[in-house]
Amino acid sequence: MFSRVVRPQTVSVLQNGVRSISTSSQRHTKVAVLGASGGIGQPLSLLMKQSPLVSELSLYDIVNTPGVAADLSHIETPAKVKGYDGSNQLKDALKGCEVVIIPAGVPRKPGMTRDDLFNTNASIVRDLAQACAEVCPKAIIGIISNPVNSTVPIASEVLQKAGVYDPNRVFGVSTLDVVRANTFIAEAKGLDPTKVNIPVVGGHSGVTIIPLISQATPSVDFPKDQLKALTERIQEAGTEVVKAKAGAGSATLSMAYAGARFAFSVIRALKGEQNIVECAYVRSNVTEAKYFATPLLLGPGGIQKNLGLGKLSDFESELLKAAIPELKKNIQKGEDFVNKK
Ligand SMILES: NC(=O)c1ccc[n+]([C@@H]2O[C@H](COP(=O)([O-])OP(=O)(O)OC[C@H]3O[C@@H](n4cnc5c(N)ncnc54)[C@H](O)[C@@H]3O)[C@@H](O)[C@H]2O)c1
Repeated sequence: MFSRVVRPQTVSVLQNGVRSISTSSQRHTKVAVLGASGGIGQPLSLLMKQSPLVSELSLYDIVNTPGVAADLSHIETPAKVKGYDGSNQLKDALKGCEVVIIPAGVPRKPGMTRDDLFNTNASIVRDLAQACAEVCPKAIIGIISNPVNSTVPIASEVLQKAGVYDPNRVFGVSTLDVVRANTFIAEAKGLDPTKVNIPVVGGHSGVTIIPLISQATPSVDFPKDQLKALTERIQEAGTEVVKAKAGAGSATLSMAYAGARFAFSVIRALKGEQNIVECAYVRSNVTEAKYFATPLLLGPGGIQKNLGLGKLSDFESELLKAAIPELKKNIQKGEDFVNKK
């Protein structure tokens, strides 16, 4: 039986390194990273290259991919790396890809919300989704580009219009919210962070990020003021990094780790491994919001089963109430962008 709070083994792939993985678990999967030369794209591509789960790595960006690809191609792992530079090479980059991870687009600077990125990133994600619809319509797409609450509806509308939309295959990558929650709760309780799992539901910005600390594994308890402070820290953790980087961007290294964790979970499930659960922001009928992150059982076709919200505490129910109007607004904005209302 799977659990809603299973911690994927993918994390140990990162920790143990490539040579500790048995060859019998090797799979042949072609992965594309779109935005591969960026702050997230480069370390994410490094983690993909390091993994025996990846047989081919397609690195696409509008700048610098020949250099990134040449550099990574010298690493002594089997994955074949190829760089694709500029929009006339995008379709070649996507040929035969089973998994496409998208960190393309501008990041935040201090004082900006994720929604402030909409004007630039909406069209980037729209055009990349259009190319996926034409070249690899069956690929699993993981969208990192912000505002995730809107870019996932944008990609979904584009795929829908192209007649190839499968809601089980389009994901907003909210794994970093889970990673942060695990870290902060482990720190607060003196636990081993690799053994902690906190589902994080809702969306991926401010009040829409809802950590379900009442469902933590192992179970933890906090006085109300500490619970509130921890929840707010998880909700604003991205801003903590944006401020600390002081104009040099947002989370890149922790995001690359989280993106790799997500991609490895997807690949393992695609290849038939059982009981792989990740939280991600997807098309959903769990709440009134058309897209919503919850724990998902992954399988060979992407989402196998949405595991839903589980039982919420009163505190978490209030967080959910606050999140829904904001989420609906963000979703509508994304849909309107594609449908040009
Ligand atoms: N989902 C999350 O949890 C999360 C966390 C952190 C950052 N992000 C988001 O990820 C995105 C990337 O962040 P970053 O720090 O890597 O930014 P970055 O500016 O360092 O890199 C972005 C890359 O995208 C490329 N790019 C721009 N337009 C493109 C296009 N049309 N096609 C392909 N590539 C294109 C750029 O050339 C650049 O190399 C931002 O939108 C950021 O807000 C999401």
